[in-house]
Amino acid sequence: MTWLEDGWRHVWLPYAQMQTAPLPLPAVRTEGSRIFLADGRVLVDGIASWWTACHGYNHPHIVEAVTAQVREMPHVMFGGLGHEPAYRLATRLAALMPGSLNRVFFSDSGSVAVEVAIKIAVQARLNHCQSGGERGRTKILAFLGGYHGDTFGTMAICDPEEGMHSLFAGLLQEHPVVPLPRDAASIAAFELFLEEHAGSLAAIIVEPLVQGAGGMVFHAPAVLQRLRAAATHYGLSLIFDEIFTGFGRTGTMFAFEQAGVVPDIITLSKALTGGTSPLAATIATDELFAAFLSDSPGTALMHGPTFMANPLGCAAANAGLDLFEREPRLAQAAAISAQLARELAPCRELPGVRDVRVLGAIGVVELERIENPAALRMALVAQGVWVRPFRNILYLTPALTISTDELSLLCTAIFAGLSAAA
Ligand SMILES: Cc1ncc(COP(=O)(O)O)c(C=O)c1O
Repeated sequence: MTWLEDGWRHVWLPYAQMQTAPLPLPAVRTEGSRIFLADGRVLVDGIASWWTACHGYNHPHIVEAVTAQVREMPHVMFGGLGHEPAYRLATRLAALMPGSLNRVFFSDSGSVAVEVAIKIAVQARLNHCQSGGERGRTKILAFLGGYHGDTFGTMAICDPEEGMHSLFAGLLQEHPVVPLPRDAASIAAFELFLEEHAGSLAAIIVEPLVQGAGGMVFHAPAVLQRLRAAATHYGLSLIFDEIFTGFGRTGTMFAFEQAGVVPDIITLSKALTGGTSPLAATIATDELFAAFLSDSPGTALMHGPTFMANPLGCAAANAGLDLFEREPRLAQAAAISAQLARELAPCRELPGVRDVRVLGAIGVVELERIENPAALRMALVAQGVWVRPFRNILYLTPALTISTDELSLLCTAIFAGLSAAA
């Protein structure tokens, strides 16, 4: 396989120490929940390519839509030109949203969607200042354990230690990052913080119900209700980053539905295109949108990624939304949830296991520590599954279309892999 050895001297992998990183597995094809390797091995995918492939890989309806689109118009700039895939997608996303979350800004990655959310929240205040409003509301309140991306703006609102960005601490904009208000002490600290500092804040940002890349840590819907109440009380924008949790992952179409509260801005990506191609969306309320309207070009939102609203991504996303309407994705998430709870439970008895938890189609086994994540990953590959241990957790976020047998294989492999490592 010369492409792998030749290319290995030229690629730079994500989150990898390149001096010691093992040669990646050569993937040549995907189908459903399976990844086919060049050497003939087939792996059942437990993480749906970083939580994107919610309908399984190569769903024929998405493939057909993208194929038709690539023939017609693979890309066209969004500045000054409109196209049906994006306009239709914006209309459908707005229809899925509650309240006045009606304005969709498209971009090409989750990090950029969050950058745009920050820009909207901050600039809405700055625009207001130009007409004599309050100055100095430029900070974003974020939470320990949170993760919102790898660009410099988003690094500044990740957990400073856990967010993989501590090296850049002195270079980042300073935003307050505090504990999530989930118990008496953290609630009191949160309330006090706001009393003292709300005047410097434009927004609060949170991953609703699950802090994903920060370790798959869950919190109760009541936390989101508290954030909503605080944001409303102090006049802050509430941003829900649903890049991981959106599209059925937590058991409802969007995680915020479980709390019965509505944010002012929501960010989406990952499963938006069913994992087919990069696309992200930042959706804002009519009220925030109105803050950008004036006779002056100076109050416009100055953002415009080259590939924003890429027609292929939009075609994939529209087809993905068709599938949510036609196929029982939320029922599948509920069935996955029950099976994960049943079949990961035995892991609780293994030495070194600290917690086993399930929410929607997310199953997590948390350990005291994982000595050698790469070795564990390869032991799991030897059992025919693709799972990516990180920090001290092993997790499953499979396609919502995974079969019960495939999911059983994943759960059994995790139990066997941890037993062997114990
Ligand atoms: C909640 C959340 N926000 C933002 C991002 C960043 O998305 P991207 O990797 O597409 O830039 C991620 C990625 O894992 C995420 O989980």
